[in-house]
Amino acid sequence: MTDTKDSSKKTIIPHQDSGDVEIWMGLSTSNEVEEDRSLELTNLRPTSFEDYVGQEAIKNNLQIACSAAARRGEPVDHVLLHGPPGLGKTSLAKIIANQLGVGFKATSGPVIEKPGDLAAILTSLAPRDVLFIDEIHRLPRVVEEVLYPAMEDYQLDILIGQGPAAKSVKIDLKPFTLIGATTRTGLLTSPLRDRFGMVLRLQFYEAHELAAILRRSASLLHLKIDEDSARQIGARSRGTPRIANRLLKRVRDFAQESGAERVTVDVANQALEMLDIDHLGLDQMDREILLTIIDKFHGGPVGVDTIAASIGEERSTLEDVYEPFLLQAGLLARTKRGREVTPRGYKHLGREIRTLSQQNLDFLEGN
Ligand SMILES: Nc1ncnc2c1ncn2[C@@H]1O[C@H](COP(=O)(O)OP(=O)(O)OP(=O)(O)O)[C@@H](O)[C@H]1O
Ligand SMILES: [Mg+2]
Repeated sequence: MTDTKDSSKKTIIPHQDSGDVEIWMGLSTSNEVEEDRSLELTNLRPTSFEDYVGQEAIKNNLQIACSAAARRGEPVDHVLLHGPPGLGKTSLAKIIANQLGVGFKATSGPVIEKPGDLAAILTSLAPRDVLFIDEIHRLPRVVEEVLYPAMEDYQLDILIGQGPAAKSVKIDLKPFTLIGATTRTGLLTSPLRDRFGMVLRLQFYEAHELAAILRRSASLLHLKIDEDSARQIGARSRGTPRIANRLLKRVRDFAQESGAERVTVDVANQALEMLDIDHLGLDQMDREILLTIIDKFHGGPVGVDTIAASIGEERSTLEDVYEPFLLQAGLLARTKRGREVTPRGYKHLGREIRTLSQQNLDFLEGN
């Protein structure tokens, strides 16, 4: 399997107040690290349910679970958060720990290589702590098996030594909450998935929610922005807060360089145009994907591996990062025979749908 994120070998288990930056050093692509780092330096990440915009149903569920568990003095049930990158999974996990006033330890599936690595983390948890495992679908199978009894009975069952001298040792753990995050629930084994008490799917954000996130971020960045510009940037953020914040930063640079006092619709539009982001929020790569399918594969259906090879991207990046939004925006369709550009996709790119007979004619004429 290929990865969307470059994972360094370092296991990083920062504590609640050691800051986000360190976590991302080990887990993200260099671009993401840089973006997140500078964004997080100004602390745009929401730290409470009140600051966390949108995802109302999920927030309600979690708030009830948190207060009920706190009243009983128990840990919250294990939570699995899934959805495309940048929708706020890590932020929610931290908010849960903050709300409960317990410790937060973060790690990631691919960096836990051996059962012993996981055992070290689990035994270091204090009662009711939150353990966050990002990219949990990439946990090695042998490690996953150690997690089952830990999740179910707060017990570690590990084998020490090899051959006839091997001994099975049981260690009691403090009751804890596991929060797993994944962009791909399909890749999670069902025994693991079944051990989560809450499985919550994050949705893309509405334009007005993104505008609210942008207003909050702008005020934290001491940037003056009008309502229409916040909506304009929000509408082009592919339903994703991380992208909204990223665009806001670019717009801020642009405003600063052009001597604008505040971000107006004009300033925002000019900045977004320079970034080659169209009115639906598609960037160059999104358009390249759609155009490749139209121009090289007659609009599809075409297999995802073939598309990935044509545009020189990893299949998993295509599936995790680009495709969800193109599907959600109705520009691309996923069929049994592969991906197809929809009529809306053609229209958005200003292309005409060619009928099969037109395509045959093109072929015979060598076009
Ligand atoms: N609901 C929200 N309200 C306000 N800001 C948000 C919200 N969700 C996300 N953000 C902003 O977007 C950034 C990215 O969110 P986060 O890191 O939690 O996403 P993620 O789902 O964990 O992404 P990935 O899958 O890439 O790990 C955060 O730093 C935060 O600034
Ligand atoms: Mg995350």
